[in-house]
Amino acid sequence: MAFWNRRKPLEIAAATDARHRLKPTLSWPHLVAMGVGAIVGTGIYTLTGIGAGLAGPAVILSFLLCGVICACAAFCYAEMATMIPAAGSAYTYSYSVLGELLAWIVGWSLILEYTVAAAAVAVGWSAHVAEFIRAAGWAFPDPLLHGAMSGGIVDLPAIIIAAAVTALLIIGTRESANVNLVLVIIKIAALVLFVVLASRAFDPARFHPFLPFGFAAHVDADGVKRGVLAAAALVFFAFYGFDAVSTAAEETKKPSRDLTIGIIGSMVLCTVIYMAVAASALGASYFGDFSRTGAPLVYILTTLNHGFAAQLVAGAAIVALPTVILVLMYGQSRIFFVMARDGLLPQSLAAVHKTRGTPVLMTTVTGIVVAVLAATLKLDQIALLANAGTLCAFVAVAVSMLVLRVRDPGRPRPFRTPLPWIVGPVCIVGCLYLFLNGLPRFTQWWFLFWNAIGIIVYFAYGAWRSRLAQAAT
Ligand code: ALA
Repeated sequence: MAFWNRRKPLEIAAATDARHRLKPTLSWPHLVAMGVGAIVGTGIYTLTGIGAGLAGPAVILSFLLCGVICACAAFCYAEMATMIPAAGSAYTYSYSVLGELLAWIVGWSLILEYTVAAAAVAVGWSAHVAEFIRAAGWAFPDPLLHGAMSGGIVDLPAIIIAAAVTALLIIGTRESANVNLVLVIIKIAALVLFVVLASRAFDPARFHPFLPFGFAAHVDADGVKRGVLAAAALVFFAFYGFDAVSTAAEETKKPSRDLTIGIIGSMVLCTVIYMAVAASALGASYFGDFSRTGAPLVYILTTLNHGFAAQLVAGAAIVALPTVILVLMYGQSRIFFVMARDGLLPQSLAAVHKTRGTPVLMTTVTGIVVAVLAATLKLDQIALLANAGTLCAFVAVAVSMLVLRVRDPGRPRPFRTPLPWIVGPVCIVGCLYLFLNGLPRFTQWWFLFWNAIGIIVYFAYGAWRSRLAQAAT
């Protein structure tokens, strides 16, 4: 069978042999926490400021745009995840609907979404730790706080956090999800504190002029792409993460109930929190001031003379950002795991630990890659590259949902996307529009370069070694 025609039957996608089966230990509270743990993170603590610098107060429209696109994507994910409750997310859905080659491209792009984003968050976490060390007056060699590409030698805190999260994931899913739940509560409490204090200083005058850089993305004289759309392509990073929940499909006790509540619940909850935080930040401080700082929420509280609260929010960021890394790395290790199980990567890597029920080797490999990227790369632009991979995955899921509606309309769907022929196309067009118009040119080129490497890897290995290829010979 030609590789473009190889499709994993939906029944087989959902059922796997016992040796490679992940333990079903999760239910919906874990999944909502997992979604919130992944969504609210570096985006809200750092990119809110940078986004405001690109769009002015109209960054609120950027958030709205991303919220609408991600909500549509969340519906498509929920339909696909409940129909194919197997690990692997967009990669698995694409394999069953669009064929092996496109699935490989989606899986390869998901590495950008999960691993590159996890590395970006690790660098962001390290920046907060560096601030903390400086404020405390501790002596620590500065070159060990920044990666080689950021003027240092190695980003040690980023390596440490990547190693710690890897260890948690290896101990076991259930344990990791419970740790995540506690940290998510801390994170939400800090954001509620920010909204309460910042909204006391709310001044509508700060929303004028509302669109200082216009709506459409355009490159200014200084070479920076600005406008509501350019900001949307960046703050998109702050919204995604709910899709990581679908990667846990195989480990949920009741997939239809748990995944539906998990994906949609975490998405809606985070969008509401996000809009509230952005609006109170914009109302409490001039965007031109807080857009210049790496910790805008902490900056705003400090300028409002809430020094203690500022410290609490900064501390919460240090405590909470690892939950984002945790969920992203969890998603990545599961996608690698499924790709290996399908034979597109070496299958020896997919073995599940006998007692823990977790893919130890794959998790370790993911942890090492995250640590290496985080220890060396610059935070700038990593988020944009991660967004490029995510936009690609969202398009694939929406297309898969629509194709399956036509190809197999009678198949039982535990969750049905409302108005699929509006929701699906809004997701597809929105993601393509952000990719083509919002992302900087160099990010688009890097994305293409990354996928060119992926296609070479596919034809060097997976095209001949995949389970479906083997079954056909
Ligand atoms: N949405 C996640 C964050 O903002 C990736 O950190």
